[in-house]
Amino acid sequence: MAAVKAPGTLRRLREAGLETLVIATTSALHFVTPLSLSAAADSALHTDQSWFAPQPGAQHLRLARADLVVCVGASADLIARAALGLAGDLASATLLSVRGPVLWVPAMNEAMWLHPAVQLNVALLKSRGHHVLGPVSGSFGSSGEGAGLGRMAEPEEIAAAAMRLLSPPAQDFRGLRVLVSAGPTREYLDPVRFISNPSSGKMGFAVAEAARDRGAEVTLVTGPVSLPDPDGMTVRHIESALELREAVLHAAHDADLIVMTAAVADYRAAETKTEKEAKTAGEVSIHLVPNPDILAELGASKGRRVLVGFAMETHAGVERAAGKARRKNADFMLLNYPTREGTAFGGDDNQVTLVRPDASHDAWPRLSKREVAERLLSEARSLIGAGD
Ligand code: CTP
Repeated sequence: MAAVKAPGTLRRLREAGLETLVIATTSALHFVTPLSLSAAADSALHTDQSWFAPQPGAQHLRLARADLVVCVGASADLIARAALGLAGDLASATLLSVRGPVLWVPAMNEAMWLHPAVQLNVALLKSRGHHVLGPVSGSFGSSGEGAGLGRMAEPEEIAAAAMRLLSPPAQDFRGLRVLVSAGPTREYLDPVRFISNPSSGKMGFAVAEAARDRGAEVTLVTGPVSLPDPDGMTVRHIESALELREAVLHAAHDADLIVMTAAVADYRAAETKTEKEAKTAGEVSIHLVPNPDILAELGASKGRRVLVGFAMETHAGVERAAGKARRKNADFMLLNYPTREGTAFGGDDNQVTLVRPDASHDAWPRLSKREVAERLLSEARSLIGAGD
């Protein structure tokens, strides 16, 4: 079904100046016409049928010489065939012969995607250096039968990911240290109950990964999230705001850039019980005390470090975010609205406005969190060393 996004993706890739060759699997041709694919690619289509037609040279070997292979709308079936090393059809045979990078853009419903068989195959492909984009959450399918995880990434995003793989990122953070905080904090009331929030950590992880890819030495301090530790950086796990403070202040002294995406609980229980509190019949009240404001503390002894915060507002966003930037002595804040569709907690996209202390601001369009991270880093990079 997601094969219908293939022509749009091909057009984007060609707009970016790439020459494209297309293999259509037999099942893809149930959903998209050969003509729409070959027209979008501006080249002849390669299919299982053309593979068996008498032709000079092995078609899959010639196709496998591409600088990048992108599997748009990849099914559980194609992923399994590639993971197993099968070669009974043109797409699988090409994938088995390829030497360059491979980008998978899977599309299937959540139940299939999360099945251990698919997850194992995807992990296998990743362990061979293949890249995987999505699937993302959102509705999909012609009758909206799918909701939740499973919607394929959009053509624009696929093209951006493809371009990143073809042209390695600028190493503009080489020699610089970047500290990122991510995820929620947990403020325990007793050993089994805590106050927290739904932060997924995805934004902070995206910043950390983008900084690593741009050459930075990265420390990621994260609250409890369900994301695997990224490679190529130091990862510290914390739970409470006080632990976050300690880990951040420890890593802050030699950082060039600090990005606070962590959703820090503003309050903690005045006292954490060491034993589980039994329920009582009547009402209870919890005595909360404020947590330290870590960003403000970093701002108070800022030195040459560039400081970036996130502000979540439901109203008067720019004004309030600019006020926070001034109060916390941050270079800029990225303002977002948790109540807006598509940018809520846990999503894969974010729509933010960059707000400076003087309230000047730039509204960015809705972007993937990775793209937000790239823009954040570019803005921060222009400030590092600016005062020297
Ligand atoms: N932050 C922090 N320490 C805290 C609270 C927040 O370092 N105790 C950081 C966050 O990581 C974020 C920024 O400050 O980068 C803004 O957080 P936000 O909760 O929006 O600001 P608050 O100062 O808590 O303001 P309010 O809750 O009143 O909106």
